[in-house]
Amino acid sequence: MTLTIKPNNIKIEVEKGILLSEALRGYAKIEMICGGKGICGKCKVLATGDLSPITEKEKAFEENCRLACTTKILGDATVFVPDKKVSGQILTQNLIRSVPVKNEFNKNYGIGFDIGSTTLAAYLTSLETGKVLSVSSGMNSQIFYGEDLISRIDYINTHPKGLKTLQKAVVGVLNELVDNLCKENNLSQTDIKKATFVGNTCMNHIILGVDPKSLGEAPYEPVFYNSVVKKSEEIGININGDLFFFPNIAGFVGGDTVGVILSAMKEDRGETALAVDIGTNGEMALRHKGRLLVCSAAAGPAFEGGGISCGMRGAIGAVDSACVEKGEVKVHVIGTGEPLGICGSGLVDLVSTLVDEEIIDETGRMEEDFVISPKVSLTPKDVRNLQLAKASIGAAIKTLLSYVGLSEKDLDKIYLAGGFGNYLNKKSAVKIGLLPNIDLDKIIPIGNAAGSGAVLALINSDEWEATEKIRSQAEHIELAHSSEYQENLLESMMFE
Ligand code: FES
Repeated sequence: MTLTIKPNNIKIEVEKGILLSEALRGYAKIEMICGGKGICGKCKVLATGDLSPITEKEKAFEENCRLACTTKILGDATVFVPDKKVSGQILTQNLIRSVPVKNEFNKNYGIGFDIGSTTLAAYLTSLETGKVLSVSSGMNSQIFYGEDLISRIDYINTHPKGLKTLQKAVVGVLNELVDNLCKENNLSQTDIKKATFVGNTCMNHIILGVDPKSLGEAPYEPVFYNSVVKKSEEIGININGDLFFFPNIAGFVGGDTVGVILSAMKEDRGETALAVDIGTNGEMALRHKGRLLVCSAAAGPAFEGGGISCGMRGAIGAVDSACVEKGEVKVHVIGTGEPLGICGSGLVDLVSTLVDEEIIDETGRMEEDFVISPKVSLTPKDVRNLQLAKASIGAAIKTLLSYVGLSEKDLDKIYLAGGFGNYLNKKSAVKIGLLPNIDLDKIIPIGNAAGSGAVLALINSDEWEATEKIRSQAEHIELAHSSEYQENLLESMMFE
């Protein structure tokens, strides 16, 4: 029977009857203060699947919350190990450009929050100097209720208290981050006078308690587009001041994309620049001669390790790159142990290497599994899934460029935002057709640009005002209605 450990998506085979705490040994750190007697409650995890019945004690917990020390695995099951108990790469780099401080709070502090579907980051910032003082990050525990946004919307639609549950899940982790930052910096929560939030449209809806149902069905319209300001107590964020939420451009182009645009290409600098943030959705923005075009392409979960037989997130044990040594394909694993799976950047690099070695042909055909270790292989179906994902992003970029009469070679810069873009091997990404074939020096990873946008808007009120200007200037291209996109999609399937 298989136990799936989220959020890193590690799959392990376990024996029937084994305790969750035993099964997780070596994969996740579980606190067991009472030594597994079922007393302290420190070993709580979220788990579903074929498990021993819920005990009297567990009935008092939130839905699916179990004690790892007393819960037995009886069949296939999934466990979500909350924040800090799973090691994973969370990108927390900061500002791409600096701006002067301009706000009404001299000696106080603010926090810029980046609410990703998978990871959350909080940047404690001095409102006096504009400097980011420290960063705290964690996993978005909403992931337990649905891997992707559509399944979370589905959870909300099918559970009467679903919206409240998901809102509480994200606010709970954000408050932990506030706590960590205050402790680390000897501050009290009352010293934090404002906070800004960047998140995709769905996250923006959920944290504000707005039903995201309309985002789950055509025409995928948000309930609201504008930026929103709330008092901290209205949302339950433990600071002492106002909360500023970035605006949404479209159903799948949200405040996080506005954050990326704000930090990487707020103004037209006379260059043709593309910003790309690749995750389950690829959001992209193109600046060209005073115009700002945006779109979103559904890439599926392949780049985050989903839908790949041995896929996992970029964490200890993940294959994150590949190369050829003495005629043999070798892989690199994060950490020092055995490979546990393949993460998104590893997948791109491995497939690119296998195309180079002609183990995968230009149509994406691979004769048999490519075996990395007894437990980890790349299957022909995995290659097909990656092909679909890379074609979706590649085609979206081509389509966006065609709207302003350009082709890939006209691009002066490509900014790669987000975790995946940061760890991606640019050469491999170009080789498999995920990114345009331009000079690699023009492809610039910019780290967590959405988070940088949150910080810029926190320290300077003009930057905050610019978020609404970006929203109103952005022209959203709906790819679902574009026949050109469909044509590009077919062409982009090949590995050339
Ligand atoms: S270890 Fe104490 S309740 Fe499980």
